[in-house]
Amino acid sequence: MRPKNLALMTGILLFMFCLAQGFMVPVGVKWTPKTPVYEVLRVFGEPMPAHYLSPSEEQIARGEAIVKHGWAISPTGKKGTAVSKYYVCTTCHNLKQEDPDLRVSNPDTRLPYVKAKGIPFLQGTTFKGIVNRTSWYNDDYVKKYGAEKIGKAHHDLREAIQLCAIECSQGRPMEDWEEDAVLAYFWSLQFTLGDLGLTDENIRQLEQLAAAGDTTQATRQLLQDRYMPYSPAHFYDAPPNKKAGYEGITGNPAVGKDIYTLSCLHCHQTGGVSHYILGMDPLSFEHLRNNITKDSHFSLYQIIAYGTYAIPGHRPYMPHYPAERMSKQQVEDLRAFVEQETDLK
Ligand code: HEC
Ligand code: HEC
Repeated sequence: MRPKNLALMTGILLFMFCLAQGFMVPVGVKWTPKTPVYEVLRVFGEPMPAHYLSPSEEQIARGEAIVKHGWAISPTGKKGTAVSKYYVCTTCHNLKQEDPDLRVSNPDTRLPYVKAKGIPFLQGTTFKGIVNRTSWYNDDYVKKYGAEKIGKAHHDLREAIQLCAIECSQGRPMEDWEEDAVLAYFWSLQFTLGDLGLTDENIRQLEQLAAAGDTTQATRQLLQDRYMPYSPAHFYDAPPNKKAGYEGITGNPAVGKDIYTLSCLHCHQTGGVSHYILGMDPLSFEHLRNNITKDSHFSLYQIIAYGTYAIPGHRPYMPHYPAERMSKQQVEDLRAFVEQETDLK
């Protein structure tokens, strides 16, 4: 072999060695824990979803204002009107991650997690990662309200936003610029590689797969296995015997106190969205306590499992809690707390 060829061969071998060892980062692909998951999925061949939009900073800011305050200044500079007179989106939805493990929707592990973060515990699912889901209003929402009402919203995030503006919020349909703004804001809340718990080493490995031109579903699955693609929702009934409560469950009043403060008071404290005012006072606890065993929507069992309905002339209503948003154990915990506070057991 001529010396020139030898040098070339050594060079090629060295290059391949480096590649195998992961010393080399492919040109153009450099990811960090802050990289959005869809940016990576796209490189691995995932088509962008129908709700994809490349948001501008102004759109995101307008969307954030609508979600948090109910209205925004329109692109033409006009002051918008409130989407709902009664609520803002954050009355019922969080904006941050609310489950310690994104692969599991479990209210028992969610409660201490949201408490540590200082955010509430609510009926609606968080908007964090909502663009990463592939269906909305799932399971019993479709069963109970029927394909006609949930309709396209089950598979279309834009429709889901509109449905919640009109039905959940008892408001008006959003204008196109408002819908775009809310969607843009949602894209700013999409999962990043760091949210999925990927280490720097995992990220280097993904960069290598990308450099090798990998576009297999198996590789996309490595990412998609790290979060739930939808928020599950199963409804449950009040116990048949309210005095006995949910069978075989003993309530823990300390957990019940967290439910009360992080969930009920979020809407029922003075200045909240409800006329029905609750606080940390004996009157509140007595009223709740006296109704627990009654067949009344003032009963904890009844209100948690079924909520209330919007009626003409009085639109604010209370959404019920599906099993994934409050467990039967937590209902008993709340009861135990109310009973403890009234010392009437
Ligand atoms: C009164 C409570 C309430 C208000 C206010 C509210 N929502 Fe909802 N929303 C819900 C509930 C309950 C669901 C049921 C599905 C879930 O999130 O688990 C839901 C679902 C959704 C979903 C589908 C989520 C999923 O993954 O299934 C979207 C999108 C949504 N809401 C957007 C909005 C927007 C945007 C606003 C503000 C304009 C808003 N919501 C205001 C209660 C509310
Ligand atoms: C997302 C906001 C929200 C949350 C969270 C919430 N509620 Fe409500 N609740 C309401 C609204 C709105 C009404 C309708 C009554 C009204 O118009 O003021 C209501 C009604 C009720 C009623 C019936 C009151 C009446 O006058 O008919 C009870 C009892 C009640 N809630 C208890 C609770 C308890 C207990 C919790 C915690 C487990 C809770 N609520 C959590 C918003 C909420």
